Amino acid sequence: MSEHYHFDQILNRSNTDSLKWDWMNKFLPKAPKDALPLWVADMDFPVAEPILQSLRTCLDRNIFGYSYYRSEAYLDAVTGWFKRKFDWVIDPQSIYYSPGVVPAIGMLIRLLTAPDDAIIIQRPVYYPFTDKIINNGRQVVNNPLKIQNGRYEMDFENLEAHLKNPEIKGLILCSPHNPVGRVWTPDELEHVVELCKTYDKWIISDEIHGDLTRKSVTHYPLEVLCPDYKHKIITCTAPSKTFNLAGLHLSNIIINDPDLRTRWTEEIDGRLSVGMASPFAIVAAISAYNEGDFWLEQLKDYLDGNIRFVSEFFSTHLPKAIVYETEGTYLVWVDLSHYESDPVKLESLMLQKAKVALDEGYFFGPEGNGFERLNVACPRETLEKALNSMKTAILR
Ligand SMILES: Cc1ncc(COP(=O)(O)O)c(C=O)c1O
Repeated sequence: MSEHYHFDQILNRSNTDSLKWDWMNKFLPKAPKDALPLWVADMDFPVAEPILQSLRTCLDRNIFGYSYYRSEAYLDAVTGWFKRKFDWVIDPQSIYYSPGVVPAIGMLIRLLTAPDDAIIIQRPVYYPFTDKIINNGRQVVNNPLKIQNGRYEMDFENLEAHLKNPEIKGLILCSPHNPVGRVWTPDELEHVVELCKTYDKWIISDEIHGDLTRKSVTHYPLEVLCPDYKHKIITCTAPSKTFNLAGLHLSNIIINDPDLRTRWTEEIDGRLSVGMASPFAIVAAISAYNEGDFWLEQLKDYLDGNIRFVSEFFSTHLPKAIVYETEGTYLVWVDLSHYESDPVKLESLMLQKAKVALDEGYFFGPEGNGFERLNVACPRETLEKALNSMKTAILR
């Protein structure tokens, strides 16, 4: 294939019902209407041509009736991708559709725990973990990540102390970790499993960012490293983040425990009836997993460049900022507390002065006070504009 993608192309996303562009004010009420959105994690890049082609073909069928996702073609595409990318042999029987990873986490919390049970998360972390636990009447136990030599690490000693508590039933692992950008090493992941095994706790491994590592970094699916504990591991995967298909609402949840599979089906089909994917989501997922490799390689090159650009920009223009190494995800985690440590003032500096809408560090827990999370999956020109506005606002 010789075609090359142009991630520099600026697309106008206004008036497309986009959450990031059109509905920013609903979720970030303090954002001025003309703020540049680098917040929610979708990309301002057009979808890969083979996926667009499969969607056009689907459109041309002219009928969009009820659809189901378990065709051989679908299961082959999913299993083929994970085998090729991670040498992960997924039993097709373990693949379960969910309209999203977050809805799946909500359902799993309900299936795996009883009201008032406790679940461990490691902040600063993707904030819907907290919401799903609390809103389902369970308790959050935080095992904060610690910064060691300029790098985020898990606090294993504290983790073990928590795991001894019988009220705690399991752990939600963010792997790679949003927002800090760590891609956990095999040693770190094996350590987590070892501890959970000792105290008999389940693990929800949210691997939605697993395809989006830097070119020099490898993501390890938890199940591949620790196959003998896989009955207690539920892995959340999706083509949505990787291929910019979040609005199509499709994710694949890998469930190995037979009893949990039954209870999942009872919940998703029996009680909620949300187990049927859209025909567009199904064809897009098949095409993404069968034909998306080439686009993804080019995307990764572009993201590597954007991440370098951000890092160089801060070291040149705002040298007191600490930019954490983004090993995975397209989200850059920056400590701006040397410039403004009060999270409310920092937020208003970004929104009112810089007119840039970011995910504020404090969204991810108090450990994020003084930080900002930048979504850099946008054309470099947009990124440069946002960074220049931030610089001017901070140095004014
Ligand atoms: C760690 C993590 N999990 C899940 C999601 C969203 O998943 P979904 O849109 O499938 O609910 C995101 C989106 O940013 C994320 O960062």
